[in-house]
Amino acid sequence: MRAYTFDQFDLDRLKMTEQPTPTPGPGEVLVDLRALSLNYRDLLVIRGLYNRKLALPATPVSDGAGVVAAIGDGVTRVKAGDPVVGHFVADWLDGPFRGEYSASSLGTPGAGLAAEQAVVPEHALVAPPAGYDFAQASTLPIAALTAWSALVTEGRLQAGQTILTLGTGGVSIWAVQLAKALGATAIITSSSDEKLERARALGADHGINYTTNADWEREVLALTDGRGVDVVVETGGAGTLNQSMKATSPGGTLAILGALTGLSAEVSTGTILMKRLTLAGIYVDCRRAFEEMNAFLSAKSIEPVIDQRFVFDRLPDALRTMEAGGHFGKIVVEV
Ligand SMILES: NC(=O)c1ccc[n+]([C@@H]2O[C@H](COP(=O)([O-])OP(=O)(O)OC[C@H]3O[C@@H](n4cnc5c(N)ncnc54)[C@H](OP(=O)(O)O)[C@@H]3O)[C@@H](O)[C@H]2O)c1
Repeated sequence: MRAYTFDQFDLDRLKMTEQPTPTPGPGEVLVDLRALSLNYRDLLVIRGLYNRKLALPATPVSDGAGVVAAIGDGVTRVKAGDPVVGHFVADWLDGPFRGEYSASSLGTPGAGLAAEQAVVPEHALVAPPAGYDFAQASTLPIAALTAWSALVTEGRLQAGQTILTLGTGGVSIWAVQLAKALGATAIITSSSDEKLERARALGADHGINYTTNADWEREVLALTDGRGVDVVVETGGAGTLNQSMKATSPGGTLAILGALTGLSAEVSTGTILMKRLTLAGIYVDCRRAFEEMNAFLSAKSIEPVIDQRFVFDRLPDALRTMEAGGHFGKIVVEV
């Protein structure tokens, strides 16, 4: 079977290789991958910016959906022929997050899915929402579940409340779709007026161009009668956090999840305490939340936004396309 590996932290070293078909051990499942979706994390992993100690060569990509090809001894949750989608933080099934769970994350240190077949633990698989094809299901494990974690698990978003999400990448577009389905008002920012139009067509109530409107937090306040939003899906990180805090209502929540503008910044702690803000660190979510989200997606018939599809041979081009940032929503690679 074919799998991508990289032997140095360099996207140019990502090559298709021929590998023996892996055999599932006890508690493991062999999955025939049918679709992958890309996340910013995949690029960071390949460039060595996520885990410099990763043993090379390694196979990247965290998110994938496919069909169970074979099961190891003792596997009871799935059987051959079942459609499945990977759960990113494989060992985080339910309850509070624990530090050791991150060692199980798919796409390093756990199994990378940029392959025709991969072996994963049975507990790292969930059933896709009803009616989803493989490409649609592949968009869920990181992007959709992170948006869900921000809005539902941490934000406790209620109908009638307002959210702000930054940029029009995979997490943000999912955040708009989920917020609308939850009965909330959605404000989104982008560097592109054309993307803001697309976001409005998808249901976003307001769009703000953060390039032509550098003081975008003032626009958010104006749109919310000076109050600010209830939940921020903070994909930006260091360069956007202070503005996002100003754009949040007293008592509101900032779901801190992204690093698009860097990882460290001087933060106005006065704003946090005077407004009694909650800053919630997000590392995707547990499997129970994934299954709850899937039930919600089925009930609401929400269709993932797939901006571009690539064939498996063009995975490196798909990663470069994501890096260029021209996409809107998710990029999928069909295996
Ligand atoms: N903690 C977690 O569990 C978790 C999970 C998933 C993702 N993340 C992180 O969240 C971030 C977003 O992930 P993603 O997969 O959605 O990325 P993505 O699909 O690559 O989205 C990138 C988009 O972000 C926007 N952007 C870039 N710089 C920006 C800025 N200064 N202000 C506002 N928006 C900006 C751009 O949108 P426009 O073109 O519209 O300007 C760009 O297209 C990444 O840092 C990723 O590592 C974290």
